[in-house]
Amino acid sequence: MKREKIAVIGLGYVGLPLALAFAEKFQVIGFEIDRERVLKLKRGIDPSKELAPKEFKNKNITFSSDIEELRSATFFVVAVPTPVTEANEPDLKPLLSASEIVGKVLKKGDCVVYESTVYPGCTEEDCVPVLEKFSGLKFGKDFKVGYSPERINPGDKVHTLKNTVKIVSGSDKSTLERVAAIYGSIIEAGVHKAQSIKVAEAAKIIENTQRDVNIALMNELSILFGRMGINTYDVLEAASTKWNFLKFYPGLVGGHCIGVDPYYLVHKAYKLKYHTKVINAGRFVNDSMGGYIGKKVVKELIKAGKQIKDAKVLVLGITFKEDVSDIRNSKVVNIIEELNSYGVKTEVYDPYADKDEVKKVYGITMTDKIGKGYDAVVVAVAHKQMRNLKEKDFISICKPNALIVDIKGLYRGKIKKLGYWSL
Ligand SMILES: NC(=O)c1ccc[n+]([C@@H]2O[C@H](COP(=O)([O-])OP(=O)(O)OC[C@H]3O[C@@H](n4cnc5c(N)ncnc54)[C@H](O)[C@@H]3O)[C@@H](O)[C@H]2O)c1
Repeated sequence: MKREKIAVIGLGYVGLPLALAFAEKFQVIGFEIDRERVLKLKRGIDPSKELAPKEFKNKNITFSSDIEELRSATFFVVAVPTPVTEANEPDLKPLLSASEIVGKVLKKGDCVVYESTVYPGCTEEDCVPVLEKFSGLKFGKDFKVGYSPERINPGDKVHTLKNTVKIVSGSDKSTLERVAAIYGSIIEAGVHKAQSIKVAEAAKIIENTQRDVNIALMNELSILFGRMGINTYDVLEAASTKWNFLKFYPGLVGGHCIGVDPYYLVHKAYKLKYHTKVINAGRFVNDSMGGYIGKKVVKELIKAGKQIKDAKVLVLGITFKEDVSDIRNSKVVNIIEELNSYGVKTEVYDPYADKDEVKKVYGITMTDKIGKGYDAVVVAVAHKQMRNLKEKDFISICKPNALIVDIKGLYRGKIKKLGYWSL
């Protein structure tokens, strides 16, 4: 294999662990536009709080926000965000600006691999023209591209970069082999060579779309079962005894992947004059769950004879999923807003979320200390601190006949003295 020097562009949840893994085998430049992030990385601190300082030790890596540092690289990996706009349209600004940066330093013989989640066609139709424009080079002749999607989950210590098969693809056969060899040298589970870049892009986006649609089905069923007076988790436990029943659960779909990526596919479909129905329906159901839960809490409080105006509700958890500090696109916020719209007073506690960030992003002031006298407790995120709570813990902070709202079904069958509702 040619002696490659690898540059990773964007050192967030995806880029940083990847750059550090490459740095065990290759000389690596970790490039990041956020200078404060670079300062932390240079001190061995992961701003995303996923990696311990020891993971930075003995790695052949330099961190920089200086584009000049990128000139000596031969193999570029782009791992910048691919969010949506307020209208749920793909926002390609970070991806195209990263392509511009790479284009400015690209040389003959270099290869650029994208890791960001995109719709099929984005690498070749949207990114390559930017690379060509800023490099003055010809795609295919002078430089090559590839696509290799990331599959790790934030906070997941079981399924890691190295032990998960990595899909790789390239713009031609020799590029595919080059990309496969580089990734194959760090991924212990091996690589899957996709037939084309578009196939690799599509594979990633449907992994998350499939999850979104399946969770939406569970959410819809939970609304229905609520009307039937049966518990969804009880139904799922029974149905799961069949060998081919898929284990999905109802819940909030937030974050920057599952709740976002399907919109990329919808956008591309629309461009191809196909109107997706199932994918959009899934998005609608999942995006509506926060509002639904908020209304349901109000109904249950009324049933319990509580006055709604100024009722005091504790919300446990605001991150987008359990055991992480990431608050991006948190749907717990929708529950809080719905409750507040009825005049309910909410207090929010989360052992992982950063108080200043929550205030900045959502305008919500989190409480440092759980109080007393709550009319309801909404357990919105299954952080490990929440998983261990017992009914006596709730009793000690609640008014008599308070309501426990158990979105993740953690306390099913365990709340006997207080009111109880779950999805
Ligand atoms: N987080 C995950 O678990 C996960 C999993 C699979 C795929 N993905 C996908 O991977 C991509 C990256 O996601 P992430 O979670 O790592 O995002 P992130 O926000 O954690 O990190 C992205 C980093 O890129 C930097 N950046 C933005 N524009 C840049 C530019 N022009 N040049 C250099 N750096 C730039 C940002 O400052 C940030 O530090 C997205 O497309 C996402 O959908 C994420």
